[in-house]
Amino acid sequence: MAQYLILVTPSANRVFAGQAAGLSAIELEICAGSAAAVSGVQTVAGVDYVGFETDDYPAVSGVVSRLSSAYAVFERVGADGVELLRPVELVDTDRFADDLVTIPKYQGKTNEQFTRLLINITAASMTRDASGPITLLDPLAGRGTTLSVGLTLGYDVAGVESDVKAVEAYAAFLKTYLRRKRLKHKASMDPVRREGRSLGRRLQVEVTPEPGDRQQQLTVLTGDTRQSAVLWGKRKFDLVVADAPYGVVHGSADRGGRDRSSAGLLADALPVWAGQLKHGGALGLAWNTYGLTREELTAIADGAGLEPMDDGPYLRLGHRVDSSIFRDAFVARKP
Ligand SMILES: C[S@@+](CC[C@H](N)C(=O)[O-])C[C@H]1O[C@@H](n2cnc3c(N)ncnc32)[C@H](O)[C@@H]1O
Repeated sequence: MAQYLILVTPSANRVFAGQAAGLSAIELEICAGSAAAVSGVQTVAGVDYVGFETDDYPAVSGVVSRLSSAYAVFERVGADGVELLRPVELVDTDRFADDLVTIPKYQGKTNEQFTRLLINITAASMTRDASGPITLLDPLAGRGTTLSVGLTLGYDVAGVESDVKAVEAYAAFLKTYLRRKRLKHKASMDPVRREGRSLGRRLQVEVTPEPGDRQQQLTVLTGDTRQSAVLWGKRKFDLVVADAPYGVVHGSADRGGRDRSSAGLLADALPVWAGQLKHGGALGLAWNTYGLTREELTAIADGAGLEPMDDGPYLRLGHRVDSSIFRDAFVARKP
């Protein structure tokens, strides 16, 4: 089998406190499945790479190119004790330039590389063949990192967020960005009313990344995520992906806006989100393990009728963010 090495984007190590190659290896293990044998982190001449073997590189090239932090790929070649690294082209399938997710900077932003990793492993865990475009809901959308990464990956995206100011800031950014890039789009932010009652506001964006491309949809509704099913009605999604409040900068909207952990919020909201998934769809959640253990989260997901992915690579995604946050990622399928 041919051997390959993935060089991880240098900036990823700042995000993952030196654990970027290790996390990328796990991401590849989940996303490539049996198409590649991932050998983990390999150090060549002092530089860390993610190593893998395959006898069918074209079968994994799409997955490798979509990884959250793949910077370059090399095939290991060589003979007679001389090792050479032969560059292999990455195929760029991103629908938008990466500045769509890197320009916005604000307190409480979920790192974009980690967000992409979370979306990738969640999408790889779906068992349904999406007929038509994949739809993704971030029910804790903040200022839209998951939604922008989802658009970049070609999905139609939807969000719920209780902080109206965050949605307004995201709307303002998107409008300026799409205009400045001269991308064909329509964007509006309107009140939502049902039976004469105000339900909040709706940000609606339709955008065509390149002439001739499929038009993509983004919709964000303001409101409490526990009411997400009421807000969205019958609409169901292939993916639900969220970064739960860490109880540090952001709190959940219940106890006066600050909840030391998101345990209460997740216990209430996860069953609602599970009901919004299509059969064969998957949920991916990032959370701070200092407020809620994996066992507790697994029990909540079980109770909501989901099938937690509780083996192998899925259990090795935990990583330190700072002294008050040990972040982990949880994935579950809707049978
Ligand atoms: C960790 S942040 C997500 C940040 C987002 N991924 C981003 O990069 O902008 C969690 C978000 O959940 C929102 N939130 C907390 N409780 C909520 C609730 N009950 N309903 C809706 N949104 C809520 C917070 O306002 C915050 O924006």
